[in-house]
Amino acid sequence: MKIAIIGTGNLGSAIAKGLIENKSFTALYLSDRNTKQVDVYKDVNQVTVTNNNALAVKEAEVVIFALQPKHIVGVLEDVAPLITDNHIVMSVAAGFEIAVIERIIGQEKAVIRVMPNTAISIGKSMTCLSGNAHGLKRMEVATTIFNQLGTTLQIPESQMQAATVICSSGIAFWMRLVRATTQGAIQLGFEAEEADTIALQTCLGAASLLQNTDRHIEAEIDRVTTPGGCTIEGLNAMENNGMSAALVQGIIASFNKINQLKKN
Ligand SMILES: NC(=O)c1ccc[n+]([C@@H]2O[C@H](COP(=O)([O-])OP(=O)(O)OC[C@H]3O[C@@H](n4cnc5c(N)ncnc54)[C@H](OP(=O)(O)O)[C@@H]3O)[C@@H](O)[C@H]2O)c1
Repeated sequence: MKIAIIGTGNLGSAIAKGLIENKSFTALYLSDRNTKQVDVYKDVNQVTVTNNNALAVKEAEVVIFALQPKHIVGVLEDVAPLITDNHIVMSVAAGFEIAVIERIIGQEKAVIRVMPNTAISIGKSMTCLSGNAHGLKRMEVATTIFNQLGTTLQIPESQMQAATVICSSGIAFWMRLVRATTQGAIQLGFEAEEADTIALQTCLGAASLLQNTDRHIEAEIDRVTTPGGCTIEGLNAMENNGMSAALVQGIIASFNKINQLKKN
């Protein structure tokens, strides 16, 4: 599969890193007006680093637009004449609707919206996908690419804003929770480095346990909470201070903001 990434900033370069580590292409074109984040890949086999968006689009079958919403219209307009029915156009731009892409490149083109997160660089992304009618027919191409870089879920486009909050912003939410745990660990006397190791591995352990068991989350929590013990004491203190409510409210605030940004 010949893949182009237009825009190799934070996310575009993370996708490039994941693809290169998986060798999941026959040719990869990395195009940006400033290629500094992907110049390290200049000498990798079958990888072309370029400033020429048109060249990347012409050569590729799958074109992933990883541009800020404010830049994507101009770039799409520039390359629209080069996009054929054989291309699959993918966009990771948050809040940027398929209908807007179709207005620029035509409704007969296959368009797929992709919402990954930066863990794509290490093959651990949660990536939500939705497509227009032609995109849905070729969704398998997207699931094949992004399943190599984590886990995918096909969703209706109406849920893309929510997916942006949970998948993409979610990375920061989880990291902040890990950081809070390290702060608690330091207060209990661990060195910062030890606190990081303990918090991270425990977080990974919790996620892996949930991934590898059919038990409900609460049943897994019950296994740790001895009646009258220290875990339930801690959990209740956290809930009394609004832990779950704070998380849900944060998710809703993030969702409201993304909807407001989209309107503007
Ligand atoms: N970061 C995330 O975790 C994440 C997750 C999911 C979705 N997204 C979406 O992904 C998109 C990209 O986000 P990002 O954080 O990767 O942004 P970013 O770091 O700003 O990357 C965008 C890149 O595109 C380049 N660019 C701008 N105009 C161009 C043009 N005409 N031709 C070629 N390249 C051009 C930018 O160059 P300059 O720096 O010179 O402007 C920059 O290197 C956004 O729409 C965002 O909503 C991001």
